[in-house]
Amino acid sequence: MANNELAEVSIDSLLKENRKFLPNKKFSENYILKDYNTYKRMYNSSIKDPKKFWEKMAATHLVFFKKWRSVFKWKDYKAEWFIGATLNISYNCLDRHVNSDRKNKAALIWEGEPGDVKTYTYQQLYSEVMICANMLKSLGLVAGDKAAIYMPLIPEAMIAMLACTRIGVVHTVVFGGFSSNSLRDRIQDSGCKILFTADGGFRKGSVVKMKEMADEALLETSTIKNVIVVKRTSEKVNMKTGRDLWWHEYSAKQAKVCEAIPLSSEHPLFILYTSGTTGKPKGLLHTTAGYLLGATVTTKYLFDIKETDIYWCTADVGWITGHSYVVYGPLSNGATVFMYEGAPTFPEPDRFWKMISDHKVTTLYTAPTAIRSFIRLGNEYPLKHDLSSLRLLGTVGEPINPEAWIWYNEVIGKKKCPIVDTWWQTETGAAMIAPFPGIMATKPGSATNPFFGIEPVILKKDGTKAKGNEGGYLCIKNPWPYMARTIYGDHDRYKKTYWKEIEGHYFTGDGAHQDKEGYFWIMGRVDDVINVSGHRLGTMEIESAAVHHPSIAECAVVGRPDPIKGQGIVAFITLKKSEKVNSHLKEDISKFIVKEIGTLARPDDIRFTEALPKTRSGKIMRRLLRELATTGVIKGDTTTLEDFSVLEKLREKDED
Ligand code: PRX
Repeated sequence: MANNELAEVSIDSLLKENRKFLPNKKFSENYILKDYNTYKRMYNSSIKDPKKFWEKMAATHLVFFKKWRSVFKWKDYKAEWFIGATLNISYNCLDRHVNSDRKNKAALIWEGEPGDVKTYTYQQLYSEVMICANMLKSLGLVAGDKAAIYMPLIPEAMIAMLACTRIGVVHTVVFGGFSSNSLRDRIQDSGCKILFTADGGFRKGSVVKMKEMADEALLETSTIKNVIVVKRTSEKVNMKTGRDLWWHEYSAKQAKVCEAIPLSSEHPLFILYTSGTTGKPKGLLHTTAGYLLGATVTTKYLFDIKETDIYWCTADVGWITGHSYVVYGPLSNGATVFMYEGAPTFPEPDRFWKMISDHKVTTLYTAPTAIRSFIRLGNEYPLKHDLSSLRLLGTVGEPINPEAWIWYNEVIGKKKCPIVDTWWQTETGAAMIAPFPGIMATKPGSATNPFFGIEPVILKKDGTKAKGNEGGYLCIKNPWPYMARTIYGDHDRYKKTYWKEIEGHYFTGDGAHQDKEGYFWIMGRVDDVINVSGHRLGTMEIESAAVHHPSIAECAVVGRPDPIKGQGIVAFITLKKSEKVNSHLKEDISKFIVKEIGTLARPDDIRFTEALPKTRSGKIMRRLLRELATTGVIKGDTTTLEDFSVLEKLREKDED
């Protein structure tokens, strides 16, 4: 529900920004589109006749086993694209390259945190994927079954994803930083039959005990029949007889060949959970043809994929960015993907820059929060390394503040790399608004223009268009091929959340405005979702977790600006009558929330209060809490507050 005022999410520095950077000439000369007018022409025709446009894109960029009967249908908020066609994603990401000159090209160059490096050619990746698909088959999985993947960022995560797609198994990747409870909830909601995990992963020099977490999650799930465990750290783990199998042992027993099976365009591809405005994360369901088309063409046009590129998107495959821009987009384009397992600053703050120089990375796609923490660490670290291989930089996940943009451009890109600021969401599947590099002038903090076939509009609550550069709700006018089709098991919630908020438009949950040149400026979320280090968290999700703590009576969570993380988490807590504040309680509550959700949900600040501000109907007035957490004072309208003495108590607490 969009219940915040837009003014609250406006970012001052973005509103005042008016610098403009023209495309780099040398880059432009080799870019796939000739000039801005070419983009405009293609864009206009894609909007005028989207079916024709996408049909042409699909025919050009994907291999189908059977052609579609019709292009698009939209009924009861259910979209279907390329109806009647069949294809296979793993075929598009592997077989077609193996059958070409790319056979011996590196598909994946991977570096582990301890410094171990592995390279897979397309042929090698293809072989591994087929063996993994045979593991799934031999365990009885068939098209439509679900598999959970809870792994460190190691090649097997990519292999498992592609193996699922080869036989039509639907994967649900759960980010390794999520807690066992979060893993449990996701497995339960999607009904996974199998879980891929590892004995552990390396992070900041320590071992993350993933198998232990997985075992804990499995105590309360009934659908998982088998667990396939990668030996990564050689940590001692419990292997449950009859359920758990070592990847290296079980894969050795498999046949080497597994044909990619033809799947219908709308065959479910993956379920990926993301936070919404309620306590329960939503399982967004993406399907085969439309999703792959979006991932493929946005990667091609926005990252200007060239045969010689070493392309590095730093996201974990547990997020949508990892799905679309570590795995499916680049592999479908036949690119060489670089992947890194560990922490960006381990063992030294220059780790990223050292790897760019060692592997001659050409394309770096990362999050503003990472850029801001690099700025804080100091320029000496990137300056120590030869970054001349870089030719394109991307950002994603949150609005980038102009200072971070300028630093990225100057210190990392040496003013020669276009910066591609991509706005999109788990729900949108792939990039929606982003500069086409080489032909569009960029403005620090603006995601600039829409991708082909995407028609963003800025609307007011009543559905009318915002005028001039007035702010409003960012919406998308029509369905597009790569959007999520539903929330798994809850199509009503899908309809209500995305298509009913402003009838007939896809509602993004973001505020935005357009400048005189039509550039889009994303101002952040307008709902009860916060963005912490580029990761989406629902305030209600944290609250629901917190209230299970035995001492807590009530909890209200709000976001406040954070110089590194974008937003930080502030939890206002009232204790049960019998409970007293003690020196350990804050830490204890923090740990409790981390155990329930994962480390990303750790509060930055916990404030105890005797009461929370509520309206007469009992609704918590988060607006006031947000104001207090952000500015330390409450100036906004308090007329609907039920008990004014609460404000005084809150203020007193703030001064403590
Ligand atoms: O608020 C927007 C922000 O991230 C949200 C989507 O989060 P998630 O589904 O986790 O996907 C993140 C990666 C695609 C959006 O609603 N966001 C994402 N990219 C940008 C952004 N905000 C501003 N600029 C961006 N480039």
